Amino acid sequence: MEEIKAKLIKKFDDRSARIGVVGIGYVGLPLAVVFAEAGFDVIGIDPNEEKVSALNQGISYILDVETERLKALVDAGKLSASTDYAELLKVDAVSICVPTPLRKTGDPDLSFIASASKSLAPYLHEGMVIVLESSTYPGTTREMVLPEMEAASNLSVCKDFFLAFSPERVDPGREDWTTVNTPKVIGGITPECGEVAAAWYAQALETVVPVSSCEVAEMTKLLENTFRMINIGLVNELAIMCDRLNLDVWEVIEAAATKPFGFMKFTPGPGLGGHCIPIDPLYLSWKLRSLNYNARFIELASEINTYMPRYTLGKIQDALNKNRKPVNGSRVLILGVAYKPDIDDLRESPALDVIHLLQSKGAEVTYHDPYITVVDHDNIRMQSEADLMGAVREADCVAIITNHSIYDYPAILNAAHMVVDTRNALGDLGKNNPKVVRL
Ligand SMILES: NC(=O)c1ccc[n+]([C@@H]2O[C@H](COP(=O)([O-])OP(=O)(O)OC[C@H]3O[C@@H](n4cnc5c(N)ncnc54)[C@H](O)[C@@H]3O)[C@@H](O)[C@H]2O)c1
Repeated sequence: MEEIKAKLIKKFDDRSARIGVVGIGYVGLPLAVVFAEAGFDVIGIDPNEEKVSALNQGISYILDVETERLKALVDAGKLSASTDYAELLKVDAVSICVPTPLRKTGDPDLSFIASASKSLAPYLHEGMVIVLESSTYPGTTREMVLPEMEAASNLSVCKDFFLAFSPERVDPGREDWTTVNTPKVIGGITPECGEVAAAWYAQALETVVPVSSCEVAEMTKLLENTFRMINIGLVNELAIMCDRLNLDVWEVIEAAATKPFGFMKFTPGPGLGGHCIPIDPLYLSWKLRSLNYNARFIELASEINTYMPRYTLGKIQDALNKNRKPVNGSRVLILGVAYKPDIDDLRESPALDVIHLLQSKGAEVTYHDPYITVVDHDNIRMQSEADLMGAVREADCVAIITNHSIYDYPAILNAAHMVVDTRNALGDLGKNNPKVVRL
């Protein structure tokens, strides 16, 4: 084993190791690019033919990866993609970056990890290292991925191959903390597995943080996202409480944020969105339920956060009411449907819930989003309004759901009949303004 390990680490050192990335989406594509930029030959594996074809043409489909950057790597022969898992026979190291959503019942959907492991297992070979990156509950790598690998290959972990978990922390749209400079936590099935995986990642990423096991690495990610989810639940409830007390929640938060220690600023909004914060903590509470423990903080924060779209509907009702209008038949323009500002990701966006609620009350709903031109999701089929200011003028109420920075908020306020501001996008302009209802 020592010999296999030393040989593999040497291949990482001299860049002769070939890398595979399974799942080339929001996480996998930037990671594949970073490995290729570090000098490795990289192949992405994905069943999605459109993504594979786009990557092979050097065309990016992820905002964080510029086409120019991708094309340079593809043209240099450092990066390619395929739908065929057999390509992994030629690689030394594989990162698995497949989705981990929830089922309709709210339980973890591990089918993508299961199918990726099953597809990869026949190509597992001696001297290979596998790192699972998908966010999941503690135990997944050891209890699910490892048995699949060992059963299909007749190889043994840490004798013939290495297996580890390393949570992805990428924050799409962020420029200061990227895949390269965000510290990367890595834990192996055994310490040796962790050591090999860390030796690989350290070649491409600035800081690697080794931990003692894959379970610690899995739990670290869930702590990070649960921390955010619970704090967002807290400020969402604070917004509801301030409303009852007739206080400006935004002013309260800004004042608290002047404390130089012991306080971290979170802001309320129309609900949680994205692939991580609303989902990952539920992986943890699900796992704990199987151990007869009820993760109460998670359940409570989840309850408050999932109430926020309905609370937003109430604010839209209040705004229309000021002009003696019912929701039924009123035109409501949703500004921003992405789950957060300046990105093109619609997954779990609270805008979808707000649209559903408005439609169920008979409102005529339209939307505008500079990054999402079509919504075809969850029985909602709509196109972004082509003429933003025309749509603002026509609407009985404009609801700012996602505060994209390219919007000219003063101009929107000026042209609108009523505005519901769920993100404090209008800042001081929205304060004590009869045309504005704030969260
Ligand atoms: N997007 C984020 O901001 C973010 C941040 C941190 C962690 N994560 C986690 O990373 C993981 C991946 O998320 P993502 O946002 O990249 O998802 P994504 O949907 O953008 O990409 C996943 C890719 O995996 C592919 N795929 C599905 N099944 C496959 C299979 N069997 N074999 C190979 N490829 C397969 C899909 O076609 C898709 O291209 C998830 O667990 C997520 O929770 C995401």
